[in-house]
Amino acid sequence: MGELSVLAGRSIVLGVSGGIAAYKSVELLRLLSSQDARVRVAMTKNAARFVGPVLFEALSGQPVYMDMWRENHEIRHIDWAREADLVILAPATANLVGKMACGLADDALSTLLLAVTAPILVCPSMNTHMFENPRVQDNLKRLSDTGLHVMAPGSGFLACGDTGPGRLPDPADIADRAAALLCEKDLSGLKVLVTAGPTREPLDPVRFLSNPSSGKMGFALARAAEHRGAEVVLVSGPVQLADPLGVKVVRVTTAREMADAVFAEAKDADMVLKAAAVSDFRPKTCAAHKEKKNKADTNLRLARNPDILKELGKEKSDKVLVGFAAETRKLAAYASSKLEEKNLDMIVANLVGEAGSGFGSDTNKVSVFYRDGYSEDLDLMTKDQVAHAVLDRAARYLPQAE
Ligand code: PMT
Repeated sequence: MGELSVLAGRSIVLGVSGGIAAYKSVELLRLLSSQDARVRVAMTKNAARFVGPVLFEALSGQPVYMDMWRENHEIRHIDWAREADLVILAPATANLVGKMACGLADDALSTLLLAVTAPILVCPSMNTHMFENPRVQDNLKRLSDTGLHVMAPGSGFLACGDTGPGRLPDPADIADRAAALLCEKDLSGLKVLVTAGPTREPLDPVRFLSNPSSGKMGFALARAAEHRGAEVVLVSGPVQLADPLGVKVVRVTTAREMADAVFAEAKDADMVLKAAAVSDFRPKTCAAHKEKKNKADTNLRLARNPDILKELGKEKSDKVLVGFAAETRKLAAYASSKLEEKNLDMIVANLVGEAGSGFGSDTNKVSVFYRDGYSEDLDLMTKDQVAHAVLDRAARYLPQAE
């Protein structure tokens, strides 16, 4: 696969303290390792009552650090702290949070933490009343005020029977914040507008014209731009994806709703990436009630939808405009003519119908066509990797880059 993920090769210490959510840190370890991060686990003795160190050792391929006194020849807390690019505390119990807030070091994990100079991501997990306790809140605030990154816990039904805030954040969200912390902030101070997903054009209250876009490509672009420090607005058609963290999401249904949202947000955007598969046509009329199948056949009259990207191209100035094109044939010819017709800086073209590419897949194989006539074929990559590759290339057209 082509480009590396942001986490690839990065040294991460996963600190696990003794809470019921310790089992979820196994999933987090798996997620980080699957993106080629080098993860080492430091855990408290109480954490080992929930999940044994052998499991973490097997999954990380590294020894677990739990007992300072068993390491005769190494000063592991200093070495691991020095080598870490990031430390993630998941779960971070009230006890660990309190010890950190006070600068205490009475076991392997808390001692290591005092020596860390890399960013520390704290993922609290505890009973709701413990989380809401003013002393715990004071401690968490103290951690934030001294530069640690504290994630808000999830809310819901807890193992102890209470309902409220205190759940360990979702491992996928923790991995997302880890990537954000390790990402270079080359788009900071910029506004990036992304579109994603299909549009739906109603025929009657129960039927519509649409396409199979899942939104994965556009959501990956929004996530990547947010990781790189941009203020990101994502205008999305109907998809089954959760809002990316730190991104303003505007959910729309039809092409005309997408046009309104995009035109409102594009005014002060520095870069627009249009990964949405917008319906070019809509039924000329939408029936007020469900149409009955009482005719043998029927004609459907269609009206043109606004070409959102073409409209943006007419007032481009120094905004970077990136289009996408999904084609079943003549990829280069069709993509190049859209690039020119819509006055774009670049267009990202994917062949649909190819395995692992285009609609719905987690990967994509794209070719990029540039306004100066140059083009390149990128390797098959995850959509997250494609998103970063596209942003790398789009950033070259920013006025400050020229
Ligand atoms: O969502 P996924 O399942 O991850 O799939 C990703 C994708 C295949 C949808 C995506 O990679 C992609 O190719 N999106 C563009 C789909 C397309 O075919 O666009 P188009 O050729 O119809 O339009 C070209 C460009 O003009 C696009 O940037 C489109 O957003 C824009 N457009 C098109 C029509 C219209 N009325 N307004 C527009 O702005």
